Amino acid sequence: MQNKYQKGVSLLAVKSYQAKDNYFGDKATTYDEKREGKNLWEQEKKVIENYIKNIKKGKNLLDLPIGTGRFIDLYEKAELTVYGIDISEDMLKEARKKVAKNQKVSLLQGDAENIPLADNSVDYIVCVRFMNWVPISVFENVVKEFSRVTRNECIVSIPLKDGIFLKAFESVVNPRKATNKVKTLLILLSNKIIKVKSKPGKEVSKSSSKNKNKVLQIFNKNGFIVNKEIKIPNSSWVFFILKKEE
Ligand SMILES: C[S@@+](CC[C@H](N)C(=O)[O-])C[C@H]1O[C@@H](n2cnc3c(N)ncnc32)[C@H](O)[C@@H]1O
Repeated sequence: MQNKYQKGVSLLAVKSYQAKDNYFGDKATTYDEKREGKNLWEQEKKVIENYIKNIKKGKNLLDLPIGTGRFIDLYEKAELTVYGIDISEDMLKEARKKVAKNQKVSLLQGDAENIPLADNSVDYIVCVRFMNWVPISVFENVVKEFSRVTRNECIVSIPLKDGIFLKAFESVVNPRKATNKVKTLLILLSNKIIKVKSKPGKEVSKSSSKNKNKVLQIFNKNGFIVNKEIKIPNSSWVFFILKKEE
């Protein structure tokens, strides 16, 4: 039987996260076709397209996790030297199919918490659709690695909490203030709390939005200044353009 302390530890110590061993087989081969044309997918592509327009030819860029290499054609047009890293060999296999003849792309299998590149070895880092998957402790390790590897900038997308949880809390204290959106959220949450039972030893972090203050604090601690924030309309996703402090 677990004592109080062990129970606390099991809730806090997230052992893994879904995305680390999820993108294999069919998940990799059907990844693009399931997402192409969707609002978020297309908006993300526009943000990255605009971002790399300002990068000089010949600069080098790390895309991590590169997944199926959805931006490889944009990198080719911009004439960038690219490193693409992902933990899933199956995703990298899909990415390899997109590399043009003579394009300067190195695709490597590797872990975002231990990037297989030297300190200050790239000019830019692109990180899309990853930070939602990782628990905050891993988020911090990855930001630390980004700061070690880039000598210049980084663009990273993160879903942020929209404050509705705070509003929900306030309306528990003062129910007359609750909006319909908040009332629905509270009903959904109470159902979830009753249904979810923790399974010791199987703590796997699922997709989650992050607290903006915590995110900014981690950027700052790791020597990044936020140069720009780009909010994706109708979603909680925000792109942060981060500059390495001199
Ligand atoms: C949702 S996909 C995003 C891929 C791509 N950035 C995109 O925008 O489509 C998440 C990717 O993270 C990769 N991944 C998960 N954990 C990783 C880790 N620790 N290091 C590197 N890649 C990881 C998965 O294999 C998968 O390809």
